[in-house]
Amino acid sequence: MQQEEWQIDGYTRLCGLIGNPVEHTMSPMIHNALAKREGRNLVYVPFHVEKGQIRQAVKGAFALNVLGLNVTVPYKSEVIEHLDCIDDMAEKIGAVNTLVRTNNGYKGYNTDITGLYRAMCSEKIRLEGEEILILGAGGAARAAAFLCASKGAKKVYILNRTIEKAEGVAEEVNEAFQTGCVSAMCIGDYKKLGTGRKYLAIQATSVGLYPDTEKAVILEREFYGMVHTGFDLIYKPFCTKFMSLVKEAGGQAFHGLKMLLYQGIEAYELWNGIKVPEEDALALYHMLLESMGC
Ligand code: ATR
Repeated sequence: MQQEEWQIDGYTRLCGLIGNPVEHTMSPMIHNALAKREGRNLVYVPFHVEKGQIRQAVKGAFALNVLGLNVTVPYKSEVIEHLDCIDDMAEKIGAVNTLVRTNNGYKGYNTDITGLYRAMCSEKIRLEGEEILILGAGGAARAAAFLCASKGAKKVYILNRTIEKAEGVAEEVNEAFQTGCVSAMCIGDYKKLGTGRKYLAIQATSVGLYPDTEKAVILEREFYGMVHTGFDLIYKPFCTKFMSLVKEAGGQAFHGLKMLLYQGIEAYELWNGIKVPEEDALALYHMLLESMGC
C-alpha cells in the first residue's frame, strides 16, 4: 500500500545507521522508501558515532526506544560486546551489521551475509557444490567466505595480495564450519589451479571502486578464462573492470547493488517482523538504479 500523506508524529518509530563515516550511505533511501511504500510509520537516519562512543551510542539508542540499527565500519566487531545477544551466524563470523531491539537491549545479526546470499539467489548463482575463487581477504571477503562455506561450497580459494591475511580468514572459516574446504593463495597462484575448470569468482577487494574504474586486482586474460560467473561486491561503477574482463572472456558478471539492497531488506524485515515481497524489492532496486543515474 502506498501512503500518500507521510508525516512524523508521536507514534513514529526510529531506525538508523551507526558508523564513521556514514555521510555517503544509501541505506536511508532504502529504508525510508520501504517504509513509505508499506505505509509504515518509521524513519531511518544516519548517526555519525565518534571513536570510543559506540557503547554510549548503543545504550543511548535503547534508552530512546530506537527499534533497530545498522552498524557499519569501523564498529561491526566492536559493537558485539554491547549487545544483549547475538545470532549464531553473526557470532561465528564475529561481525554484526544489524541490531534488533529486544526487551533487554539489542540482538546482533549479520545481514551482509544473508543479503549477499539473497542477491546471489536472485541472479540464480549457486554456491552448493561449487568451486569458488574469492579475491581479497578484508571484511567483505570474510563475509563471502563464511557464506560459501555455510552453503556447502565444494572448494573455496581465497586469493589475496597479503597471503597471511588470506590464511587467517581460511583458518577461521575452516574452524567455524569444521571443514577444510577453504584454502589461501597468493593472487598469482591461480595459475596453479590449472585451466580446464571454471569457477565462480567473487571480487571482494576495493580495487576498481570509483574513481579508479580502470583497475582490477587481476588483469591477465588467462584468469578470466577460468571464470564462468563473476560477482563484484562493488556497485560503483556498475560495470567494473573485473566485470568487463569476465564478460570479455565469455562469462556472466554481476555488480554489488543487489547485495546492498538485500542486506537492507533483511534488516528491515527483522525490525518489523515482515517479509518484503519480491515485487517491492525489485521496485526498490530500480529506484536505486535511477538514483545512481542509470
Ligand atoms: P573491506 O572490509 O571493505 O573488505 P579491507 O578490509 O580494507 O576492506 O580489505 C581490502 C581488500 O582489498 C584486502 O584484501 C586488500 O588486500 P591486502 O590484504 O593485501 O591489503 C585488497 N586490496 C586493496 N588494494 C589492493 C591492491 N592495490 N592490490 C591488491 N589487493 C588490494
